[in-house]
Order: sequence, then structure tokens, then C-alpha cells
Amino acid sequence: MSKENQKTLEVYEELFQEYFNGTKRRIKSRGIEKSAKKAIIEHNYWFEGFKTLGDHADILEIGSADGLGAKALAKHRFNVTTSNTVGGFIKVLEKSGLKPIKFNVLIDRLDCQFDGVLAWHVFVHFTPEDLKIALKNIHDILRPGGRLIFDVQTRGEENGEIAEWLDYEGDYHLGAKRFFQYYSESGVRNIIDDANFKTVKFERHNSDSGIGWLRFVVTPKS
Ligand SMILES: C[S@@+](CC[C@H](N)C(=O)[O-])C[C@H]1O[C@@H](n2cnc3c(N)ncnc32)[C@H](O)[C@@H]1O
Repeated sequence: MSKENQKTLEVYEELFQEYFNGTKRRIKSRGIEKSAKKAIIEHNYWFEGFKTLGDHADILEIGSADGLGAKALAKHRFNVTTSNTVGGFIKVLEKSGLKPIKFNVLIDRLDCQFDGVLAWHVFVHFTPEDLKIALKNIHDILRPGGRLIFDVQTRGEENGEIAEWLDYEGDYHLGAKRFFQYYSESGVRNIIDDANFKTVKFERHNSDSGIGWLRFVVTPKS
């Protein structure tokens, strides 16, 4: 686990409430209707990606925040386990009626397996080395034919793998800098391949804040 990820987790541990305030501010500034539309598009991407796993498939969500995504998946008859490694997020998930597990994908080992794993907006805080470790660890807990859905941020193929410590101005201003990694598509594809996954679905997405996202649905090669 990189010192960058560790330091960022310490920021979340201290400022998780500010992160939730940021989410509320973002919904207000974007508008409730537009926010709901955006959530539906993201949730549909997950449903589509996990569709082949069938009803009651076991899904692990890594880095859960408010649990709304997990609840949306559960409505589609998936059996969802939420998780986070930050105590504040765990407490909020518990308060909303979920049963999260404490799980750091870079260091913890689980003795159970899943049909699907979702890591949404989580690998933004992972160095390329962290991403390699995370994909290998997820490979170990995925059943054959299982699927991992994740996204990473990009500054374009030409910028390659670059990173910065950033505290956003605006809605998500937390009061401390977090580590953000940006990937090239080819860089992520190499890491996917090295971790013995193959890509079954890929999408490039530009958010209204100007950030580029690369979205992947991958499955173990063997
Ligand atoms: C930008 S937030 C995204 C939260 C949520 N998935 C969402 O889409 O709104 C990043 C989340 O990743 C979690 N995270 C970061 N590093 C992690 C790690 N090594 N293991 C598990 N979770 C991690 C953080 O605690 C935080 O909740």
C-alpha cells in the first residue's frame, strides 16, 4: 500500500463528514433532477456489467460511501456487501441499515468469494502499483466468470500516468489535500492484462466538471 493511499485514507478518516457535506452541496449545485439522472446512468452501467451474473449474485462494493449505489443494486436482486476501510464511512453505512465490512483492498484478505466486485471512484486514490495489487487481490476473491467494474480518472493518453495532491475548490472542498492519480487507457489495459483479467466492456466518459473517466468491466482470464 502506497504512502499516498495511506495518507489519503487518513484525510478521509478525519474529514469523512465534510465529504458527505460535499456530496450534498454537489447535488444542490447540480440540481436534484440532473443528479438523479446521473446516478441512474451510472447504476445502469453497473446493472449491465453484472447482468450475466444472474439473480442473487454476490457483489462486493469496495469503498462504499452513502450506500445508495449498493441499495440500487440490491433492488435489482443482487446480494450486495458494502465495505470501506475508513471508520467514519462504516458508521454511516451502518446507520443507513447496511451491514458493511471493514476492508482495505490493498492489505486485507477475505476468506469468501464473490460473483462481482464494484470499485467506483476508488482507484482515483491508487498509484499504478496500488492498482496492480488491488486487481490481483480482487482476482483472488472473484469466482470463475465473475466481473469487476471500476473506473479511473484520465488526463488523456498523451499525459500518461500523472498524479497530484488536490483539495478541490467548490463543492468537494474538504480542507485537506487528497492524492489523485490519472491514468492513460493503455496503462490501465496493461495492468488489467498483467493481473490476468480481460476487458469485456469499456467506456470513456467526460464529466461536467471537465474530468475524464475510463470505465471498465473486466473478468478473470482463468
Ligand atoms: C472518492 S470516494 C468514492 C466513494 C464511493 N465509492 C462513491 O462512488 O461515491 C473514495 C472512497 O475510496 C475509499 N478507499 C480509498 N482507498 C481505499 C482502500 N485502499 N481500500 C478500500 N477503500 C478505499 C475511501 O475510503 C473512500 O470512501
